[in-house]
Amino acid sequence: MKIIHFSDPHGGGPAEDWMAYFDKRWVGVFNYRFRRRFQHDLSKLEKAVKYILEVKPDLAVCTGDLTSSGQPGEFERVKAILAPLVESGIPLVYTPGNHDCYVKRPWCVKAMKDAVYEVNQRRFSFDEMPCYLELGGAEVIMLNTSRPSNLLCSWGFVQGKDSRKIAEICEKEKKCPRILVTHYPLIEDNKWLRIRHTLFRQGKLVKLLKEGKIDLVLCGHVHKHFLKVDETGHGQCCSGSVTRNGNIVEIECNDGKFDFKTIDL
Ligand SMILES: [Fe+2]
Ligand SMILES: [Fe+2]
Repeated sequence: MKIIHFSDPHGGGPAEDWMAYFDKRWVGVFNYRFRRRFQHDLSKLEKAVKYILEVKPDLAVCTGDLTSSGQPGEFERVKAILAPLVESGIPLVYTPGNHDCYVKRPWCVKAMKDAVYEVNQRRFSFDEMPCYLELGGAEVIMLNTSRPSNLLCSWGFVQGKDSRKIAEICEKEKKCPRILVTHYPLIEDNKWLRIRHTLFRQGKLVKLLKEGKIDLVLCGHVHKHFLKVDETGHGQCCSGSVTRNGNIVEIECNDGKFDFKTIDL
């Protein structure tokens, strides 16, 4: 089976209502205006969609940060680019990133939840996560670890009830490769250097990965691609940002082994 993994397109835009100047969105909007729009090239996301439509993998995975500040207009712009893929019939899954869950404003939360439902081809809703799917020859576990946080931090947390539910799912006998899809890497080299941007309370999930009850973790958030896998390819793949680095990852799974190839767009 073939999986294509991409992440962190970070579509952005201006403040969409005056309240954006009184919540965390002003950080995201400022960042987008003076930095991200020069660094993230959304045409690379269009190329990724075209490539996926040509290759027709068994599964396509997006690990979050569609937007910069989680505003409705930002989601609409990125969803328009993803639409041919969403409608193609190629199974696609998406978990939100911290930028997609930037603030608690109800219209931003609704836009994020709508995006989760639509980009996941209406298979499940945000409130049903973590959830289990059998898709494209894989067992897929969809986890959200992104929630609004304070102005200075972009950290994520695994909720206790979520790791308990995933442990229950993992008790069942595996029928095919079991893949956890989440935004934040479970394992990072320089966790304490990146403390404002890292994931907490992931210990139980790391244990499941080490015990082989989860075969592969697909994640984003870190914008540079990296792999932490053993000789059989089991472990963690972070695809990096598709629009920042212009790459996606193609994963072949045969006889329980994973092979990774970086595709430059
Ligand atoms: Fe990101
Ligand atoms: Fe992120």
